[in-house]
Amino acid sequence: LVDGVLKKWTGPITEVFSTISATESYAPTLLGSIPAMGETEAREVVAAAVAAYHNGQGLWPTMKVGDRIKCMENFVTQMKATRSEVVKYLMWEIGKSLVDSEKEFDRTVEYIYDTIEDYKQLDRDSARFTKSQGVNAMVRRGPLGVVLCLGPYNYPLNETFALLIPAIIMGNTVIFKPAKHGVLLISPLLKAFQTSFPKGVINIVYGRGRDVAAPIMQSGKIDILALIGNSKSAIALQDLHPNKNRLRLVLGLEAKNPAIILPDADLDLAIQECITGTLSFNGQRCTALKVLYVHESIASEFNRRFAAKVDALPFGNPWEKGVALTPLPEKEKPAYIRELIDDALQKGADILNAKGGERTENYIFPAVLFPVNKTMRVYHEEQFGPVIPILTFRDIQEPLNDMAESNYGQQVSLFGQDIKTIAPLIDTLVNLVCRVNLNSACQRGPDVYPFTGRKDSAVATLSIHDALRSFSIRTFVASKDN
Ligand code: G3H
Repeated sequence: LVDGVLKKWTGPITEVFSTISATESYAPTLLGSIPAMGETEAREVVAAAVAAYHNGQGLWPTMKVGDRIKCMENFVTQMKATRSEVVKYLMWEIGKSLVDSEKEFDRTVEYIYDTIEDYKQLDRDSARFTKSQGVNAMVRRGPLGVVLCLGPYNYPLNETFALLIPAIIMGNTVIFKPAKHGVLLISPLLKAFQTSFPKGVINIVYGRGRDVAAPIMQSGKIDILALIGNSKSAIALQDLHPNKNRLRLVLGLEAKNPAIILPDADLDLAIQECITGTLSFNGQRCTALKVLYVHESIASEFNRRFAAKVDALPFGNPWEKGVALTPLPEKEKPAYIRELIDDALQKGADILNAKGGERTENYIFPAVLFPVNKTMRVYHEEQFGPVIPILTFRDIQEPLNDMAESNYGQQVSLFGQDIKTIAPLIDTLVNLVCRVNLNSACQRGPDVYPFTGRKDSAVATLSIHDALRSFSIRTFVASKDN
C-alpha cells in the first residue's frame, strides 16, 4: 500500500491463482500471495484519503494545476519502465494474449498522455471570469472529494486507469481496490505511485469486497463510487453508504450488444467482424457481441461459415504466437458457460461447431448455438465468455423490439450495404443504444469517443474528455460590484 499500511499488515493472506500454465491441462497454478486487508486497514485508508483531500492548503486539490500535471507526468514516465513486467502479469493473471497485453499497456500510457493534454485544455476553457446582473464570478472545474475505485478483471490496467487517472488529475483523492484477477500486475507500479503523488492521494487496498470495500463505504466518507463491473456489486456498495444522496456514480456495467446482419450484408466482412466481436479475449468484454441476429434468408450460409471459422481459431497459452483463444481466469466460468449451453440444448438449440463446449480444467471451447429463443438463459444473461447465441429474423422490427425490451443499451453492430435501408435504421438504433457500429464489431475505443450506455449498462460517461467531467464539479467564487 502506498501510504505504508501494507508494511504493518499481519493478517490473512489471499492466494492468487495463475489462470494458465504450460501443461497440457492448462491447470491453474499458484502464482503468488497477497495480504487480504480488513476493517482496520479500511479505516486507515479512508482517514489517509480524507486527510489528503481536506487538510489545508497546498495539498492535492489545491495544488497548482501545473504541479499536479508534473506529478502525473512523473508517474507515466516511471510506468513506461514497468512494461515488460506488467505485460507478463497480464498474461499470467488473466490469460490475455501477449499481443493484447502489450496493446493494453500501450493504450493505457497513451490514455494518460491524452488525459493530461485534455485536462490542460479543460482548465483553460473552464476557468473563466464572467459577470451577470452585477455579480462577478470566477468559474472553475474542481474535484468532488474521495473516490472509491474498483476496476474489472478483463482490463485490470486500462479500464481501471480510465477511472483512476481522470479522478486523480481532477484533484480527487482515491482508494483503489484492484480486481481479484489482476492484483499482482499492480505491484510493479506501486513505487511509481508512491514517488509521484503526495501521501494519501492514491491508496491501494487488497482483499475481499465484504472485508475491505464494505467498511470503506460504511464510513460515509466516499463522494464518488467509480466501478467497472456488474450492477449487483454496484448496488450492494451503494446500499452500504449511510447517505446515498452524497454519492456520485461513475459506473460501467453489463451489456448484451447485438449484431444485426441484413440480407445484403457483405458476408465475409460480417463473419470476420462477428468472430472478433464475440470472441476477442474469449468474449470477456462488456463491448463483446453477445447475441447475433441473422436474416433468415442468409442464416444457413452465415451459420455454416461462422461455425467453421470458430473451430479454426487456435487455442493456447497467452504467450504463444498467433493464439486467439486462451484459458479463462475465473475458475467457475467454464461450468457456468456449460450450464448455458445445456439449458439451450434442452430447449431445442444445437451446437453448430464440432469443437463447441469441449472442456479442460479452466477452458471451454466456444459453442455456437442455434436456433436460440427467448426461453433460453443464454438469450437473457450476459455470458461474458465463449458462447455465441444466434437468432434469425424475418422483419427488422423483431430485433428492434428485442432491443427496446432489453435491460441493456450499450452498442449495436449493423451489417448491410444499402444506404436507403441503413439510414432510417440508424436513427432508431441511436435511441436504443449509445453507439451504432456500421459493418464493424462493437468496441470501446478510440478512447477519445464517449463510452457509455443506456438503461442498466452505464451511469456517467467514460472516455478521456467525458471522464474528466464525470469526476469533477463546476464551482465559482462570486463577488458583487460595489
Ligand atoms: O469490458 C469492456 C471494455 O470496455 C471493452 O473494451 O472494446 O476496448 O475491448 P474494448
